[in-house]
Amino acid sequence: MARTAQPPTKGSVSTVATLARFLKSTLAAGTIALAAVSLQPTSATASPAPVVGGTRAVQGEFPFLVRLSMGCGGSLYSEQIVLTAAHCVNGSGNNTSITVTAGSVDLNSTSAIKVKSTKVLQAPGYNGVGKDWALIKLAQPINLPTLKIADTKSFDNGTFTVAGWGATREGGAQQRYQMKATVPFVSDASCQSSYGADLVPGEEICAGYDQGGVDTCQGDSGGPMFRRDNAGAWLQVGVVSWGLGCARAGYPGVYTEVSTFATAIKNAAATL
Ligand code: ARG
Repeated sequence: MARTAQPPTKGSVSTVATLARFLKSTLAAGTIALAAVSLQPTSATASPAPVVGGTRAVQGEFPFLVRLSMGCGGSLYSEQIVLTAAHCVNGSGNNTSITVTAGSVDLNSTSAIKVKSTKVLQAPGYNGVGKDWALIKLAQPINLPTLKIADTKSFDNGTFTVAGWGATREGGAQQRYQMKATVPFVSDASCQSSYGADLVPGEEICAGYDQGGVDTCQGDSGGPMFRRDNAGAWLQVGVVSWGLGCARAGYPGVYTEVSTFATAIKNAAATL
């Protein structure tokens, strides 16, 4: 496949997934915007489809979803801590450079809440492979519903919701209005047949249709993948991490498996 840049060497094998990881790390630094790519049926609330069949999230639908100023998504783990992807941040420590936008599907809305970061905690041991989670402490609490994280694998199945302001097609622009889509669980075995050894099955969970067409994309990174728990409450099972392109047939989206890191996330949050 055509390359415009040389990905970092991972062993001696350079695969499509390696390129995807390269793009992940490269794009996360700031150029990217993400959004849910969707070929789903158009709903009554759909935008004038900037993407084929994309649907807009409704104001207030996912109140825990936030946008980060470096071009990533995130979720409110607590009123003063955002859960995002490790590849969206540059290490740990005091950091007042990130602006979190919350409370509006329209990033340009004058009623959107904007709060600065004070600290970042990148997953311990993160080196670009797996462990793609990080926490951001906010200067002030945001009075919006938080999103519970899964602490068991029992919800790592079924249909998941993804949402964000990222690209609505591969190579596309980031979005002003939050987009959403649903994607089915993909087994580790199936996902490994797509990505081989680049998948870390104990730390990652995949989702998408065999035929592609619906996916997260650049700029959605760090945002949550979530589903209903047994009580009907939203529960986060994934963090948008990487994929080969977006919505390609045979290449599902790869998400940080939240249940694997639930204890680590809880412990890390307690230190912020
Ligand atoms: N790494 C991308 C980002 O930084 C997210 C890519 C998700 N890709 C996918 N095909 N699901 O925004």
